[in-house]
Formats: sequence, structure tokens, C-alpha cells
Amino acid sequence: MLVYLVAGARPNFMKIAPIVRAFQAQQQLSFKIIHTGQHYDRDMNAVFFEELGIPAPDVFMAAGGGTHAEQTGKIMVGFEALCTDARPAAVLVVGDVNSTLACSIVAKKLGIPVAHVEAGLRSGDMSMPEEINRLVTDSIADWFFVTEPSGVAHLRREGKPDSAIHYVGHVMVDNVLFQANKLQESDTSALDGAAFKAAHARYGVVTLHRPGNVDDPVALARIAGALTNIALELPLIFPVHPRTRARLDSFGIDLGPHITLVGPQGYMAFLNLWKDAVLVLTDSGGLQEETTALGVPCITIRTSTERPVTVDEGSNMLAGTDPAAILACARQVLRGDGKRGRRPALWDGHAAERIVTILTRTLGSL
Ligand code: UD1
Repeated sequence: MLVYLVAGARPNFMKIAPIVRAFQAQQQLSFKIIHTGQHYDRDMNAVFFEELGIPAPDVFMAAGGGTHAEQTGKIMVGFEALCTDARPAAVLVVGDVNSTLACSIVAKKLGIPVAHVEAGLRSGDMSMPEEINRLVTDSIADWFFVTEPSGVAHLRREGKPDSAIHYVGHVMVDNVLFQANKLQESDTSALDGAAFKAAHARYGVVTLHRPGNVDDPVALARIAGALTNIALELPLIFPVHPRTRARLDSFGIDLGPHITLVGPQGYMAFLNLWKDAVLVLTDSGGLQEETTALGVPCITIRTSTERPVTVDEGSNMLAGTDPAAILACARQVLRGDGKRGRRPALWDGHAAERIVTILTRTLGSL
């Protein structure tokens, strides 16, 4: 029985890596990696396949760039042709990016069952493209692999049967634990960012790329002001996403001398930086979870999170986007009152194996 594993954008790759390992460890299900090409630059894409040990994709669709409709449309057309040529028994999608949405719709319309990994998350913020992707994907998917209790609650409220909802823990955590182990055994001195780390006993790490934060000049300038202030007390390193780089340039926003701007980092280089940071400031979804997995204080620059377990149990603080509130959270961490939290249930490094076991059983009984 063939399963298509769909990956398209940077945050998908760390979720697919442990799933591929779990598929490789068994014989009942075969798989093909379908890369939509939503992210295509080497440092947003190929570097992750190499570092995370993902085999080269069986198919690369080159459907990146353009508006949401253009991108989603290109992925749908390409994926429909693939599924028609060699029909899989199921399609597995991860996360909430445009590739997740596009491939789910195509598969369902061809009558192919869809498994959604990281199902049930809800920010309640319909201005986020990811929220729309999550809602649409979950409205049509067949099997829901859930990372945290809120996901189970949302899916039940939306009428999904308990038999289709599987709380399995988090593949993103499988990956970070696996890679952190590997990092411990390797020489990190040649990694990007190692020189910055060596030069600073204490530092913070920033990532920022949500359209709501970076596409509006006023919003971005306000956040930049907060970061500049924090950097007076704690040097910051900021790997800049291509979207954010373009906005900083076009709005003429200067982050000052205490924030070190670097390009997008490979997985290991970035992990090597943030795992030892005093704090992480981010609007990423995945990093909220990864910092919780390793107990690093995280300040989320958003007004909502679809990952509330990271706040309820983990090391995440939801600061909002007001500069004074962001600064207050940072000062709390700098005083030594940052959250360390604990790892939520089943964030134990074995989520992918659970998923493959359940899929094997479910597909075997169809
Ligand atoms: C996408 C996901 C977002 C995820 C993020 C991580 C959606 C709706 N959004 O947002 O959930 O958190 O990936 O990065 O799917 N670009 C490049 N090179 C690349 C990729 C992108 O230059 O390899 C530039 C392009 O100008 C592109 C822009 O970045 O138009 C935005 O890329 P896109 O994939 O549309 O969305 P992200 O902001 O990356």
C-alpha cells in the first residue's frame, strides 16, 4: 500500500523527517515523498533534506512563488496529475501551509483518504492564511493525528468521530530530540552562528515572518523598536526569512548595532543557536513547540497561538505585538523569571511510530 507523504515548505521538512524514518522501519506500507516546491531556495529547502536525513523527494513539483491562489492552484494541478498517474492508498499531509491545503483538496476529490498530521490546532485568527488552511484541511481529512489536548477538543467540537482522532504527540518533537542528540555528538565549531555564540556568553534569538507582523510597515516598525530596546540589554541574533528581508529593505527599517542579522539558517546551525539562548523571540508556530520541548524560554510575538499547550505547560509566553508588553516579557526572562515548563504528554520522540502503526492498521482494514 502506497502512501504519498507531502512536504512543501520549510516547517514541513522537520515533521516529515521522523515520519519517513518510521515508514522506513516497517514493511507493510510503502511511501513516496512529494515535494511541492512551495519553498525552493537552497537555504529554505535542500539544506533541510540533507541535514535531517530525508531522502531526495521522489517528485519535485516546482510550484513555489506567486500569490496564494497561484501557488495553491499550481500545487493542485501538479498533484492531481500525480495522483491520477499512480494512485496512492492514502495521502499524508503535515502542518498548515498552502501545500497542506492544496494536496488535501485534490486527494479528497479523487476519493483518496487524507491523514492530517498536526490536526485540530486553531488560533481563532482568520487573518492568518494558516488558520484557513487548518480549517479547510480538517474539514475534509479522514484521520487526524493530534499534538496537544486543544486539538482533540476542537476536532470533537467540529463533529469529528473519536475513532478518527488520534492523540499521538508531536513529530516536530521527535525531530528536535533526535537532532539535539546528534548535535551533542558532533563538532559544532564549523556551524553558521558558532562564532556569534562563542563571542556572546548570553544572547537571544529572533525569528519573524508572519505576514501580520512583517507586511505592514507600522506593525513591523513597532516590533523592530521592541527588539532594538531588548538588544540594549541582551545581544540578539536574527536569521531573517526572505519575506522579512524584503520588507525590512523596502520599509527602510534599521534594527541597530546590537542585533546581528544573518540569512536563514540550516536546521543544525539554528538549533545550536537557540538551544543555549537566554530567550527566543518569535512568531513561528514550530519554534514555540521546539523551545517547549527543550525548556528554553520563548516569547511569542503574536496575539494568539494555535499551540496553547506551550503556554499552559511549556516555556512559552504569549506577549502580543505591543512593544511595551514584548519588552516586559523579555525583562521577566532576564530577571531569571522565564518559564522552563515541562514537556506535554507524549512529546517523547515516538509520535511518528504511533502514526505509522495506526495508519497500517487503518489502511489494512479498509
Ligand atoms: C510559509 C507558510 C507559513 C510558514 C512559512 C515558513 C503558507 C500560507 N505559509 O510562509 O505557514 O510558517 O512558510 O517559512 O503556506 N521565498 C523565497 N524563497 C523560498 C521561499 C519563499 O524567496 O524558498 C519568498 C518568496 O518571495 C515568497 C515569500 O518568500 O513569495 C513567501 O513565501 P511563501 O511560501 O508564500 O510563504 P511564507 O511566508 O514562507
